[in-house]
Amino acid sequence: MRVAMIGTGYVGLVSGACFADFGHHVICVDKDADKVAALQRGEMPIYEPGLGDLVAANVRAERLSFTTELKGPVAAADAIFIAVGTPSRRGDGHADLSYVYAAAREIAAALDGFTVVVTKSTVPVGTGDEVERIIRETRPDASFAVVSNPEFLREGAAIQDFKHPDRVVVGTEDARASEVMAELYRPLYLNRSPIIVTGRRTAELIKYAANAFLATKITFINEIADLCERVGADVQEVARGIGLDNRIGSKFLHPGPGYGGSCFPKDTVALIKTGQDHDAPLRIVEAVAAVNETRKRAMGRKVAAMLGASPRGKTVAVLGLTFKPNTDDMRDAPSIPLITALHDMGVNVRAYDPVGMEQAKKVLNNVTYCNGPYECAQGADALVIVTEWEQFRALDLDRLKQAMSARPVMVDLRNIYPPDEMRKRGFIYESVGRPEPKV
Ligand SMILES: NC(=O)c1ccc[n+]([C@@H]2O[C@H](COP(=O)([O-])OP(=O)(O)OC[C@H]3O[C@@H](n4cnc5c(N)ncnc54)[C@H](O)[C@@H]3O)[C@@H](O)[C@H]2O)c1
Repeated sequence: MRVAMIGTGYVGLVSGACFADFGHHVICVDKDADKVAALQRGEMPIYEPGLGDLVAANVRAERLSFTTELKGPVAAADAIFIAVGTPSRRGDGHADLSYVYAAAREIAAALDGFTVVVTKSTVPVGTGDEVERIIRETRPDASFAVVSNPEFLREGAAIQDFKHPDRVVVGTEDARASEVMAELYRPLYLNRSPIIVTGRRTAELIKYAANAFLATKITFINEIADLCERVGADVQEVARGIGLDNRIGSKFLHPGPGYGGSCFPKDTVALIKTGQDHDAPLRIVEAVAAVNETRKRAMGRKVAAMLGASPRGKTVAVLGLTFKPNTDDMRDAPSIPLITALHDMGVNVRAYDPVGMEQAKKVLNNVTYCNGPYECAQGADALVIVTEWEQFRALDLDRLKQAMSARPVMVDLRNIYPPDEMRKRGFIYESVGRPEPKV
């Protein structure tokens, strides 16, 4: 099949490369000329494990290419994916659909022959109807079907998730479009990945409901962690104790500094707005978003409280800046409000991230960026683990302690290290929901 992927970001590039790897001919289109030029030179504009090799192999096989020109690829395509951004709209938190609608208009003008237009971007219920209306209005003569096919990949494991998904959701009532979608995802049918074919509005809502549910799980365990700290219980054990119940499941029960990233924060807020607009308020999701928002800055206060009487003038080393490991994505990362809170209290911040520092420099000023965890710890009064990169799981603790001030504090916001051992090793150690046992 011939595929045009409109938007070559985290989702468009991964999806485009994977569809090419399935054997389709894919042209990835992006408005960002620098991004396209980099891809044409064989450079990856984002960090995603395995992506460089996958892209290179499919470019070599002449199944994958990149362009800024939308017209030709759209005219030639059997299926066109819209994978542009849907950030929060400034002011009210609704999903900003201007990029989706602009893409729809451009696509409409170039359509040629029956084409399936697939929305892969995360879009509120009813967006497919509007995309259809826009295309129909721009090109009354065009032959097309608009399908919803939300993407569930996780940054950091995106290729595996795309090729071995828990499920694929296809929202369409059009038989011809269903056939095209089945052909596109044929290798997954052969793998027996569950494929849900449903109504377009249902498909759109599945994506938001999934993200809101996951955000709720994280926020739930975060609040339980806070309670554990007050009552002397261990949240890891509580999480294990409830997670072994199959009705609950053990995933997404890891307490931490609050969820961030390019999806959960904006998608929960957009879903809340959809609920309000349709007079079906989602009170649980409203509480989740509010609790999570206050938590991120509260983590700054948690760190400051470990610095003694006055945090002003003290130095904190932050390990991990990206919103999760194995990505360079800094969008809505919890490190941002945490570091801002520390700055507001007069704390000096040093930081290190294995791949996110270039992105971090664009959003975090007044930070001393360092070349590794030990350089980062140099002279620090406290060290905070914000993102659980693999390399932070086995730090040389003696080396770390030597580098730090005489009273070394570690605030482990990902519960990587065993509290007892850390205290034995001479750290003043704090984590999330694992208080020092009361004897
Ligand atoms: N990042 C994730 O992990 C993830 C996972 C699932 C779903 N999603 C959803 O997928 C969508 C895309 O997310 P992303 O993280 O890939 O965004 P992104 O910002 O990384 O990429 C979007 C790209 O679209 C390009 N673009 C915008 N308008 C265009 C146009 N008219 N023509 C051509 N290119 C255009 C931009 O230049 C940019 O490169 C969003 O709706 C997001 O919510 C993201």
